[in-house]
Amino acid sequence: MDRIRIRGGRPLDGEILIHGAKNAALPLMAAGLLTDERLILSNVPLLADIETMAILLAQHGIATDRIGNDGRILSLGGPITSTLAPYDIVRKMRASILVLGPLLARCREAQVSLPGGCAIGARPVDLHLKGLEQMGAEIRLDGGYVHARAPAGLRGADILFPSVSVGATENLLMAASLADGVTTLANAAREPEICDLALCLTAMGARIDGIGSGKLTIEGVPRLHGAEHPIVPDRIEAGTYACAAAIAGGSVTLAGARLDHLAALATPLAEAGVELSEHERGVAVRRLDGLHGTDVKTEPYPGFPTDMQAQFMSLMCVAEGAAMITETIFENRFMHAPELNRMGARINVHGASAIVRGVPALQGAPVMATDLRASVSLVLAGLAAQGETIVNRVYHLDRGYEAVERQLAACGADIERLTD
Ligand code: UD1
Repeated sequence: MDRIRIRGGRPLDGEILIHGAKNAALPLMAAGLLTDERLILSNVPLLADIETMAILLAQHGIATDRIGNDGRILSLGGPITSTLAPYDIVRKMRASILVLGPLLARCREAQVSLPGGCAIGARPVDLHLKGLEQMGAEIRLDGGYVHARAPAGLRGADILFPSVSVGATENLLMAASLADGVTTLANAAREPEICDLALCLTAMGARIDGIGSGKLTIEGVPRLHGAEHPIVPDRIEAGTYACAAAIAGGSVTLAGARLDHLAALATPLAEAGVELSEHERGVAVRRLDGLHGTDVKTEPYPGFPTDMQAQFMSLMCVAEGAAMITETIFENRFMHAPELNRMGARINVHGASAIVRGVPALQGAPVMATDLRASVSLVLAGLAAQGETIVNRVYHLDRGYEAVERQLAACGADIERLTD
């Protein structure tokens, strides 16, 4: 299995290209199930999770053709030939649950494997299922599968989410687009990736009000048509490289990034001594002098993203003073802390909070992580550490970061992929 070797201590300088957002691309690909015409998505990132979603769509009869030279334009289409999302595919990627709403809306039935737990917490799908039941679906759990039927079709409903869920909002938004009547989704998630989905659905003929707010109103239509849609830039990839520049020192331009999507990160970064500013090609990142300990708490958008928590923790490991990092979204998302401590960090985890006491320097070590963002946080720590860091289990990184080693090496980092 591939590993990443980093020799720390070099500042970053240059430009990093920000790709399309993985977390927007996955639901947008699932939206390909909503029409019998072709859906053309551009600015698609080249990532393992995109391949997994293409395999799942192929299982349903939807072909994913790459058009153009660089493989970043996908053309999705084909008749739905199966409503079964099997365990073997779903277990590789939780976002597979996003086919449930579209299949049920289009075919009036679906059998989707339950995604099960994952490294960062239990992650149930009850909100997805309750919402679909409110829209008239009959749902039975059997043999590890969700068996869903809506013999008379889905109908509009007023759904109030008891807590904010990105995936449940996306599933119900897609289902409601083809339901009979009006659906309201209150306490809906409003991440930029959800706005992106809503904009694409609108281009496909859906009628959606309140895009960007916590209340979406969807007037169902009998059918959706094909469309072309460019995927929003990845704010988490951009935020990760902003933290890379911050921890290594130097200045980097994040080409194609959107500063308005990074506001919740820009504020604590500014307090920590790192400036994000508008740049004609995207966003400029500059570390001013030293880094200062700064508290953050993860929250649904527009709050500080849970997907940036691990990277920010790496940064705080080498800041002057202490930082309290509180995780409110996932119950088990500090697995990077013991690995960072092996590199000389001083982190104490107390329940949902971690106290990080800054140290003057980290030391390189062999490390590994059990999820995507934790893995990249170890790469960032390696950039700042003295000596050599080897990050094992790189397949987590490949799920969400395109060529992370090439991107950082191009800005002066001493980093390479070791292939066995
Ligand atoms: C999405 C992102 C993920 C990000 C997360 C939170 C994708 C593909 N993944 O995941 O990178 O970390 O949003 O920003 O976009 N919950 C329930 N019941 C449900 C659904 C969720 O209790 O039916 C809980 C979860 O366990 C979690 C919280 O709600 O504690 C938020 O989860 P959710 O927003 O649904 O995350 P995902 O859509 O899985």
